[in-house]
Amino acid sequence: MTMHLVAEKRRNFTNWDGISLTKQNNFDTKLNNPGERVHCVYMIKKAVYPGSFDPITNGHVDIIRRGLEIFDEILVAVLENPKKESLFSTKERVDMIQEIFAHEEKVEVNSFHGLLVDFANTHASKMIIRGLRAISDFEYEFQMALMNRKLDPEIETLFMMPSLNYSFLSSRLVKEVSMLGGCLEGLVPEEVEEKLRDKYKTSPKTNSK
Ligand code: PNS
Repeated sequence: MTMHLVAEKRRNFTNWDGISLTKQNNFDTKLNNPGERVHCVYMIKKAVYPGSFDPITNGHVDIIRRGLEIFDEILVAVLENPKKESLFSTKERVDMIQEIFAHEEKVEVNSFHGLLVDFANTHASKMIIRGLRAISDFEYEFQMALMNRKLDPEIETLFMMPSLNYSFLSSRLVKEVSMLGGCLEGLVPEEVEEKLRDKYKTSPKTNSK
């Protein structure tokens, strides 16, 4: 008989072995029949973090880092929307995020088009992360979360708050400041600052105060 046991990965459980894990979880009695084959399905807690990321800011990076404390894997999903005018191409946005998290194997970056819930299902995730900076974000996020739930009731949206330092930060403002030659120190990763300077042909600046 083949038995399918679904077990969640526990923290600090590095030498993972299906049988010992099931024993630890008091499934011993079910394993006692000689010759019984146990098939364990190892579920990774993967969350999708979608957005336009045009470009990624330190607020987004902060949410991803917080997400990594909760999930085994974060899949950053960059919206590919030909109808929405963006400063950076989809590839540029994906590349920048990949560069920032090059040493973080638990972060994957992909572009997507179409419905977000379809993308999440294709990548075996039932969790969407969204950052909430202020009350003004709430109405849009609330509608989007409930629409996603209507489309797929099994998918949950988890809202996370970035550090207070980034509560005023948005990709739109970052672009505006950069275009007008302002200082972006502490607002975006260095890789992004460089790319913004290239786009707007501006030179590096530091805050005078
Ligand atoms: O960073 P943004 O622009 O606020 O991100 C918006 C995003 C990408 C999360 C949203 O536009 C989206 O999920 N688009 C995919 C289309 C979709 O699934 N629409 C139905 C649910 S509202």
